[in-house]
Amino acid sequence: MNERQRRRRLVVGNWKMNGSRAANAGLLKGITDLWSGHANVDAAICPPFVYLEQASEALAQSPVALGAQTVNEHDAGAYTGEIAGSMLKDLGCRYVIVGHNERRRMQSETDAQVADKFHAAQQAGLTPILCVGESEQERESGHALETIGRQLSTVVNRVGLQAFDKAVVAYEPVWAVGTGKTATPEQAEEVHRFLRAELGTVGGDVQILYGGSVKPGNAKQLFALPDIDGALLGGASLSADDFVAICKAAIE
Ligand code: 13P
Repeated sequence: MNERQRRRRLVVGNWKMNGSRAANAGLLKGITDLWSGHANVDAAICPPFVYLEQASEALAQSPVALGAQTVNEHDAGAYTGEIAGSMLKDLGCRYVIVGHNERRRMQSETDAQVADKFHAAQQAGLTPILCVGESEQERESGHALETIGRQLSTVVNRVGLQAFDKAVVAYEPVWAVGTGKTATPEQAEEVHRFLRAELGTVGGDVQILYGGSVKPGNAKQLFALPDIDGALLGGASLSADDFVAICKAAIE
């Protein structure tokens, strides 16, 4: 079995700040009706914090795992409004997204803080999904790999390379998120190959997802690339049909 075959595929839906109890019930039912799992493909959804319990109950008998969209870097204490990794674990989460570009930009999360969140997630027994990606200006000025390399190395320096054997990395070019623009297969593959190389000895085993306007119509082409192991979805994860179509596209 080669490295590629050893790595399972993973499709993760990031619901962002969308949903209501009623809308979630329909979406969760659609997903559980349509996706019964696959030997080589894992699926997960990351609803807003307040709906984690609803999702956890709805997914109890399903192969779809649960994740959260962020986590605080501290264990517990006076951090009003924040959520600790142990709480996410308590609610049945397996994954947590850290360093999403919307949080880096809108909540001013720094590389160092993202590294602390990655560490806190693992300490709580969660699998972090570390998001990295360049802005449009960084790509156009030829600094994409430099930005991505810096985002990754800050975490590697904090936790060590070996910690990545229980982590997922997601490449999300900022200019492709929610814009309908997808990185070309060549652009995506170049960054995924770079990330794998930067991860050195563990690189061959780390699941690296692509995110940014992935839809049922372009998923298969992205998943055919040798270093793309799945997708981190935004908009497409709000439709059960689209989410499951993309999970099915990940079956080889
Ligand atoms: P879109 O799929 O809506 O572009 O969002 C991607 C994303 O940010 C997932 O985290």
